[in-house]
Amino acid sequence: MARHGKTTNDNSSGPSTMSTGAPAPSDRNSLTIGPDGPVLLHDVHFLEQMAHFNREKTIERQPHAKGGGAFGVFETTEDVSKYTRAALFQKGAQTEMLARFSTVAGEQGSPDTWRDVRGFSLKFYTDEGNYDLVGNNTPIFFVRDPMKFPHFIRSQKRLPDSGLRDNHMQWDFWTSNPESAHQVTYLMGQRGLPRTWRNMNGYGSHTYMWYNAKGEKFWVKYHFHTRQGMKFFTNAEAAEMAGRDSDYHRGDLFRAIAAGEFPQWDLKVQIMPYEDAKDYRFNPFDLTKTWPHADYPLIPVGVMTLNRNPENFFAQIEQAAFSPGNTVPGIGLSPDKMLQGRAFGYNDAQRNRIGANFHQLPVNRPKVPVNTYMMDGPMNYHHTGAAPVYVPNSGGREWADDTGPMTDGWETDGPMVRSAYKMRSNDDDFGQPGTLVREVMDDAQRAELVDQVAGSLLGGVREPVLSRAFDYWKSIDRDVGARIERKVKEGSAPRPAEGMGEG
Ligand code: HEM
Repeated sequence: MARHGKTTNDNSSGPSTMSTGAPAPSDRNSLTIGPDGPVLLHDVHFLEQMAHFNREKTIERQPHAKGGGAFGVFETTEDVSKYTRAALFQKGAQTEMLARFSTVAGEQGSPDTWRDVRGFSLKFYTDEGNYDLVGNNTPIFFVRDPMKFPHFIRSQKRLPDSGLRDNHMQWDFWTSNPESAHQVTYLMGQRGLPRTWRNMNGYGSHTYMWYNAKGEKFWVKYHFHTRQGMKFFTNAEAAEMAGRDSDYHRGDLFRAIAAGEFPQWDLKVQIMPYEDAKDYRFNPFDLTKTWPHADYPLIPVGVMTLNRNPENFFAQIEQAAFSPGNTVPGIGLSPDKMLQGRAFGYNDAQRNRIGANFHQLPVNRPKVPVNTYMMDGPMNYHHTGAAPVYVPNSGGREWADDTGPMTDGWETDGPMVRSAYKMRSNDDDFGQPGTLVREVMDDAQRAELVDQVAGSLLGGVREPVLSRAFDYWKSIDRDVGARIERKVKEGSAPRPAEGMGEG
């Protein structure tokens, strides 16, 4: 009898290859100069993985497909000019902006209240070009090498055969990548179920660079603290809301702004002197770590207010294009490998999702004039008439010609390697999540965490992943891990709601 349903021509067994059939050099480590990077552009396998990943879906974002947003203004209320010369962060500056909030794993139409990390994307239309900060409602992330990102997202989405979400697959990925422990602890705690987008904090998450008018450099982390207070749903409330109003978060923001209740966030930053990074006790560019406030206190900068709803959801929110690579003078990237991967990934995704000239759409267009040598392409609207289309030219059209050290650069040297970051004295995967569980959560929150994780593991997680999950949690906290194991073995945890990491 003929077998139906077998549609693949490719082998999924045997050694991993590139799309050409040649052996893949590594699916886990990108090619870097020295263990601490940066990532090299001639890592063809890495670029192909990233570019192909961006074309796995059409139209909806892959990931962060479900979201909503609003326009507003950012006002710098404090003098931070000794750290950055960026026009938007000069005291008194008011900058028009756009925010988009999202879930990560759910598709268009999925419930807003499923347990997940939430995206926190900001676009500032500054006097020196557009500045984007594309973060989350947590200060850290699941992985620290961009090569792992597509694998991570697939493990959180759907099974290849049934098209169903699968806890086993999620925990298989997390427990095989222990650097996920910090973010998973956040996700399984209250932050995984924000009550509304207005009630969550936002973080730049990565370490970025700031430099001042004298060219002095600093490392910076962004924290947006909600003035509405952090509020959360319980599993039961979130599940009930997913059924009653799957667009609850989108609607809440829209209704609040329409009623004149404009949500606000205070921006605070942590500043690390440039030289400190070289011998700080853990790698300050590792995206799975926070910087202790005792070492680098929060410094107030300004306030963000969302005060204008979109007039057309598709034109202004669906077609909005954010990229962590979009910086302005006074702000730079950092040696964080994830950030380098992202600096490529987003614009490429948008060329695929929206079109090669996505940056010309009104929502994405800067308010300053654009004079770029990127020409033509589908739907080209902006043009430069008969001006020269090449450089150098003798037709009088200007071109840029920087040479020498970069104002937002850093020193790097070493052999070309595929490697994890070099370990420092306090670099471990379980220390910070352990502190979060023991010192930030109270007894009630720890009990909820135990129930949540046990409920998730009871939702179809099999051996050997199950035993790995017990070890993972015992490494985070011996007592919490033992309680999770006991509950799972007794089969006694309440079944949590739908969504990421749940039953
Ligand atoms: C190497 C790692 C990563 C890669 C390759 C990656 C890739 C992507 C891609 C391709 C999109 C869709 C963009 C679009 O279609 O417009 C996206 C969306 C998004 N990502 Fe990432 N991502 C990475 C890590 C992260 C991290 C660490 C964060 C947060 C700290 C993050 C936050 C977001 C947010 C908030 C969105 C939604 C943007 C929007 O609102 O339009 N991503 N990501």
